[in-house]
Amino acid sequence: MTITEDIIYQALSTVPEPDLKQDLVTLGMIKNLRIGVNQVNFTVQLTTPACPLKNVIQKSCEDAIHNLVSPDIEIRIDFTSDVTTTRSQTPLLPQVKNIIAIASGKGGVGKSTVTANLAVALHRAGAKVGVLDADIFGPSQPAMFGAEGIQPRIEQRDGKNFIVPVQQFGVKLISIGLLTPPDQAVVWRGPMASSALRQFITDVDWGELDYLLVDLPPGTSDIHITLVDALPVTGAVVVTTPQKISLIDAIKAIAMFRQAKIKVPVLGIVENMAYFTPAELPDSQYFIFGKDGGKKLAEQMQLPLLGQIPIVQSIREAGDAGTPAIVGADPQTVQAFHDLAERVAQQVAIRNATLEPTQPLGVGVYN
Ligand SMILES: Nc1ncnc2c1ncn2[C@@H]1O[C@H](COP(=O)(O)OP(=O)(O)OP(=O)(O)O)[C@@H](O)[C@H]1O
Ligand SMILES: [Mg+2]
Repeated sequence: MTITEDIIYQALSTVPEPDLKQDLVTLGMIKNLRIGVNQVNFTVQLTTPACPLKNVIQKSCEDAIHNLVSPDIEIRIDFTSDVTTTRSQTPLLPQVKNIIAIASGKGGVGKSTVTANLAVALHRAGAKVGVLDADIFGPSQPAMFGAEGIQPRIEQRDGKNFIVPVQQFGVKLISIGLLTPPDQAVVWRGPMASSALRQFITDVDWGELDYLLVDLPPGTSDIHITLVDALPVTGAVVVTTPQKISLIDAIKAIAMFRQAKIKVPVLGIVENMAYFTPAELPDSQYFIFGKDGGKKLAEQMQLPLLGQIPIVQSIREAGDAGTPAIVGADPQTVQAFHDLAERVAQQVAIRNATLEPTQPLGVGVYN
């Protein structure tokens, strides 16, 4: 049998993208198809480099060609990615494909820790990533990224001054903590904090990014409103511990994003500090803050559970030492944040394929 491009395309058009439910050919994901003697090479263009379904897609493509064309064909599949976006028409930060708010209700549940590790995990998967520390009164990211004392540069372009983010562990970072001395408190009124956040959006040279993670302060504050007012946010990730008082506040945060005026899709829930496993008892799990609280909340709210991150001493130590824990050697930690990055990227791709672009709030002047 002569193998032709048409025959291969026909076979591949029976392979669905598992999340997006359409076939790979219709979705335009098959690139560079080349036919040789009893051999086929092509590239699958994924919606994110952190795609958790790469192996499934590879196997389905191979099976389709072997079953529908010939079992003897040698197949070589390369993978590339082009992160999807619904933001290309927006006037502010059009080169930033996805803006992801990391929120919680309760303070201290691990938003900043999750943001830093998620950012580095996405970068390690091959994505271009930035972190905007929106916690103006209590910025944590300079310490978590080991960037204390590093000053962002100011550059002039077209007569306008731009702040150039610092870059640590492959991630671009901006925080008020980089612009104020570490031993001085930011004692500002709310509107000043909001205008600082606006500057981080309008006056920072973020360049091209696949994912800009915004580390929010706890609660549902002015800062949250400023963010959704200034920028159409692609989606929100809600972090909670499994305990009741954190879950109650997480529900409030979800309700805020779901408000008719705000309407930022919630991508899912991260259950942080889900369990503790002592090094000397690797098969034991202690549920210090309760068991599966975040998982049950996700079910109740009909949201994806993006991850259950254990309590690990080295996560805390790494945060304090200024090297995100995912850079370290603890396999449990590395795996937890790697899996989290895949699930977040997956939900962003699903959101972009199935929901309309987020609309700006429209109460401010920055839309
Ligand atoms: N999975 C974890 N294992 C161990 N320690 C953790 C974990 N997650 C967070 N921590 C630690 O808990 C503390 C609070 O975390 P973090 O600052 O990330 O919370 P937050 O939600 O950003 O707080 P805030 O509301 O003040 O912004 C930090 O000391 C951090 O190192
Ligand atoms: Mg924080």
